[in-house]
Amino acid sequence: MSKRILIVDDDPTQRRILEETIKRLGYQTCTASDGEEAIQSLEQSDNNDIAVMLLDLVMPGMSGQEVLERIRHNPSAPPTIVQTANGSIDTAIDAMRSGAVDFVIKPVSPERLEVSLKNALKIDSLQGEITRIKRKVSGTMTFDDMIIRCEEMTRVASIGKRAAVSNIPVLVEGESGVGKELIARAIQGESDRAGGPFITVNCGAIPENLVESILFGHEKGSFTGAVDKRKGKFLEADGGTLFLDEVGELPLPAQVKLLRALQEGEIDPVGSKRPVKVDIRLISATNRDMIELVKDGKFREDLYYRLNVFPVQVPPLRNRMDEIDELVDYFITCFAAEEGKKIDGIDPEALRLLKAYNWPGNIRQLENTIFRAVVLADDAVLTIDDFPQIAAHVDGFEASVPPAPSPASDVQTHEGPAIIGDESTIPHTIEVSNDASDQVLGIPAMTTGGEIRPLDAIEADMIRLALGKYRGHMTEVAKRLGIGRSTLYRKMREFGLEARLN
Ligand SMILES: Nc1ncnc2c1ncn2[C@@H]1O[C@H](COP(=O)(O)OP(=O)(O)OP(=O)(O)O)[C@@H](O)[C@H]1O
Ligand SMILES: [Mg+2]
Repeated sequence: MSKRILIVDDDPTQRRILEETIKRLGYQTCTASDGEEAIQSLEQSDNNDIAVMLLDLVMPGMSGQEVLERIRHNPSAPPTIVQTANGSIDTAIDAMRSGAVDFVIKPVSPERLEVSLKNALKIDSLQGEITRIKRKVSGTMTFDDMIIRCEEMTRVASIGKRAAVSNIPVLVEGESGVGKELIARAIQGESDRAGGPFITVNCGAIPENLVESILFGHEKGSFTGAVDKRKGKFLEADGGTLFLDEVGELPLPAQVKLLRALQEGEIDPVGSKRPVKVDIRLISATNRDMIELVKDGKFREDLYYRLNVFPVQVPPLRNRMDEIDELVDYFITCFAAEEGKKIDGIDPEALRLLKAYNWPGNIRQLENTIFRAVVLADDAVLTIDDFPQIAAHVDGFEASVPPAPSPASDVQTHEGPAIIGDESTIPHTIEVSNDASDQVLGIPAMTTGGEIRPLDAIEADMIRLALGKYRGHMTEVAKRLGIGRSTLYRKMREFGLEARLN
C-alpha cells in the first residue's frame, strides 16, 4: 500500500491546488477541511498510511496549532509541514516548537513543496526504523516490522503467525543471511511472550567443555574456573524465547544434554543439588541440511524431531526479487541517515544490476552492499559505479571503477562469502592458555625473516580475522574491533579486503 499525503486546509480552492501539485509530484493524497477532520483521518488511517501531513495553521474551529498539540505525543503521528501566510513567522516558530518538521509560506511553489515533502518523507521512514529498532530490542517486533513484499515471504509470515499462537518448537531453515533471526524475533513478538527475554545461543561458537555451563548455568565453585554463579541461557530465557542459532553445529555430547533438558522440561545447573523448572519457547535456526546431518550421524535424530516440530522455510533472496526495490530503498534511507549523507536513491540501471545478481549472502549481503555504497558514494544518487563488486559478477554490467584488486589467494571463512585475503599473512593460532575455552588467536608481530611487520599489515590481519570470526556480520565486526562501521568499510577498501560477493 502506498503512503499518502494528508492536506488540511479550510479553503477548497487551496485544497484543490495543493492536491493537484502534490499528485503531479507523484504522491497520493487525501484531504481534510478542518482540524477535527484531520484528527479523525489520522485516527482512522489504515496502518498509518498517511506519511506526511500538510497543515494550514489558520482555520476556523480547531486551528492547525491545536492539531499539532493534540498529536504531539502520539508516536505514530506523521511528520507535519505547516503552511502559514506571509509575515506570520512567529506562528511558524510556535508550530515548529510543537513538533512541526518544516513550514512553507503560502502560496508555496511546487519546487519548495517537493523539497519539504521529500525531507518529511525521510523522517517518516526513519520513524518507522526507530520504532522497528525499539521493538526489536524490547522483544515486541512483529512481522509487520519486516519488509515483506512477495508471496513466498507472505506465506512465511502467515506460517510464523500460526506458530506464534502455540508454544510449539519451531525450526527456521534457510541460507545464511535470509532473515532467520528476524523471523524468530517476529514469532516471539507475535506471541504472548512478546516483551519477554529473547536469548540467542550460537551453537557453533560454544566451546565443548562449557556447553553445559553456558546452557544450564553453574553454581559458584562447581568446577575450576567457576568463580561466580552463572545463570545459563535456559534460565535467562525463562518466560521468553531461547533461540538456538546454527543448531546443526551443536557438538554431539551437547545434543544429548539438550535433548534431556527438553524431554524433562527442567534443567540441572552444574553443581546444583536440585533441577530447576524453566518456561521457554524454543526456536532453532539452521542453514545446513539437517536431514543430511542426521543421515551422516552428526545430528541426533530424536533431537531433530524434537526441534523440528514446526518447520519454517525461508526462501533465498534470489527467489524474492520483488522485494529488492523496497529493501534497497529501506537500507539507503537508514544508512544515509546513520552516516549523515544525503542520498536520494538509486538510478534505474543500478537497480537493474542489483536485480540481476544472485545474492548468495542474501539480505545480509544486500544490506552490507548498500551500506558500503552509501559510505563511499560521491553523489546523491547511487549508480553502477557504487557497486563495482556486484557489476564484476553480472554479465553485461561494468563499473567504471574496478573492484578493489584481489591479493594472491582467498581465505574461506567458516561459511558465507569468502573474504579476499593473502595467505602469507593469514593469522595463525597460538595457544596461550591451558584452558581450551581461553584459546586466543594470535597475529604474528614478526615476519618469517625476523623483522617487525608494518602496523597496517597487522591491522589488515586483525580485520581479516574478525571478518572470518563473525562471518560477515559487519556490525559485530566493527563493534569487536572498536571502530565505526564506515571506518571498517573504508579500511577494507584500503587493504583490498572487501567481501567477495559471489
Ligand atoms: N524482511 C526484512 N526486512 C528488513 N530487514 C531484513 C529482513 N530480513 C533480514 N533483514 C536484515 O538482514 C540481516 C540478516 O538477517 P538475519 O540476521 O535475521 O539473517 P539470518 O538468516 O539469521 O543470517 P545468518 O545466517 O547470517 O545468521 C539483518 O540485519 C536483518 O535485520
Ligand atoms: Mg542469524
